[in-house]
Amino acid sequence: MTRKLRIGLIGSGFIARCHVYGYRTMLSVFPEAAAQPELELVADMTDDLAKAAAEKFGFRRATGDWRKLVADPAVDIVDICVPSHLHKEMALAAIAAGKHVYCEKPVGLNGGEASEIAAAAARAGVKSLVGYSYLRNPLIAFARKLIQEGAIGEVTHFRGAHNEDYMADPAAPFVWRCDSAIAGKAGALGDLGSHIISIARVLVGEIASVCGATKTVVAERSLGGGRTRKVENEDQAQFLVEFVGGATGHIEASRVATGSHMDITYEIVGTHGQIQFDGERMNEIRFYSDKDPVDRRGFRTIYTGPAHPPFGNFVPGTAHGIGFNDQKVIEAYELMELVAADRPTGPDFTDAATISRILDAVLQSAAERRWVKVAAA
Ligand SMILES: NC(=O)c1ccc[n+]([C@@H]2O[C@H](COP(=O)([O-])OP(=O)(O)OC[C@H]3O[C@@H](n4cnc5c(N)ncnc54)[C@H](O)[C@@H]3O)[C@@H](O)[C@H]2O)c1
Repeated sequence: MTRKLRIGLIGSGFIARCHVYGYRTMLSVFPEAAAQPELELVADMTDDLAKAAAEKFGFRRATGDWRKLVADPAVDIVDICVPSHLHKEMALAAIAAGKHVYCEKPVGLNGGEASEIAAAAARAGVKSLVGYSYLRNPLIAFARKLIQEGAIGEVTHFRGAHNEDYMADPAAPFVWRCDSAIAGKAGALGDLGSHIISIARVLVGEIASVCGATKTVVAERSLGGGRTRKVENEDQAQFLVEFVGGATGHIEASRVATGSHMDITYEIVGTHGQIQFDGERMNEIRFYSDKDPVDRRGFRTIYTGPAHPPFGNFVPGTAHGIGFNDQKVIEAYELMELVAADRPTGPDFTDAATISRILDAVLQSAAERRWVKVAAA
């Protein structure tokens, strides 16, 4: 019989629902998985919120106290889906209780917190997985394969963006993402920039130094009732990148990019070709090779299909398409394989800590208006 791994989910907001979608859908997509997730216990801020979540999502039990969840002997994996200021305390408590931890990005408020969590997990020997969802798009593995096979030659440049417009309207209210004590000092950079950095690291390699600029476009936002509050982190950021391997890059992140709904985009230029991906067309990638005969050189569009695992698990036909939440289905499967079959995957807390130190370096660079080296672990 397939092993069961009992999930303790903390939080029942937006991304928690995506995690539940992943757990519940996983079995029909990956029946071969080394384990099945069991929805054991859910925690939220109050008993009532947790009970409502348990009923909606199908968890066996509910609690208004996340500490009880972390200590519960019937929980194998603690799944943290709450705002960043709570990640550290919850993750450290879960690790101390010997639980494996699945945590949402960016992990903690800054590089220091994320590094502390990574070190504790390493000492305790527990496994960790961080929800950098977009790495689960099968086209990431395909782009990596193209690069590793030398299909674009030596990588010389990375241009990446994660721009959205969820706060483009100046009338959009003040939310926890604007509060540096809850979301961290990195605003769009922490929420969105961290995703495109996760992609840059997987496709091009480690980042050595950065030179950035940030801007808060809407200085104050509404609290309702005619009151406003100062926005405490940036709406948009951009930075130049030097990769350890010698390539250069440019990365940007914005939550006020009017008209860009899901612009998680990358272009990787090599000495013999280029790869282009546009997040609003997440089932296709464009590839250019200078090995093509000169009279027909040009970008070709490759649609995701069974040739790009694990797409074939979802549907046997090329270009039938997968969506945002399917990335969480793949992530849930990877979690089961990591914990039950000891099959390494990423990103783990160590990767998340590296990404957070890059965010810190961009903020420092923007404040001091100079290039900054990314701090070592
Ligand atoms: N991977 C992705 O694509 C992605 C997308 C969105 C959010 N996120 C990340 O997920 C995390 C949560 O974001 P969200 O959008 O789901 O937020 P949200 O505001 O929708 O939900 C947060 C949840 O945490 C609960 N919560 C708050 N304090 C709590 C406490 N003390 N104990 C128990 N529960 C508590 C809230 O009641 C709510 O259910 C953040 O780290 C965010 O960066 C990741």
